[in-house]
Amino acid sequence: MKVTVSRKAHFNAAHRLYRKDWTDDQNENIFGKCANPHYHGHNYELIVHVRGNIDPETGYVMDMKVLKDLIKSEVEEKMDHKNLNEEIVEFSDLIPSAENMAVVIYNWLKPHLDQAHTLSVTLYETPRNYVSYSG
Ligand code: NI
Repeated sequence: MKVTVSRKAHFNAAHRLYRKDWTDDQNENIFGKCANPHYHGHNYELIVHVRGNIDPETGYVMDMKVLKDLIKSEVEEKMDHKNLNEEIVEFSDLIPSAENMAVVIYNWLKPHLDQAHTLSVTLYETPRNYVSYSG
């Protein structure tokens, strides 16, 4: 019997969407205000879903305290109040779009989870725009 447990987290971060190999005009055409050279911020909402069997001994899929601490150390402490382009090595050559951020977050968390568990990450960049990645 597989059950999904989920944990919400929150962080603020700044980014700029642009390609170094494009002109300013090309960047502005595709990314609009998100290409602003002075960066801009978002209040990101993250939902991490872990799917697995219920452990008959504990009744848990996984200890939510463990999941909470993992999200804190692997995601919040790395991204909160950071300039993603400048301070996160994964984005030195990768556009920090919500799509790419979801993949990076997934890759940070996955190695720390039980291999039998299925991970899925949902990232809200605005209350209405969100992306999901499940590997
Ligand atoms: Ni943006």
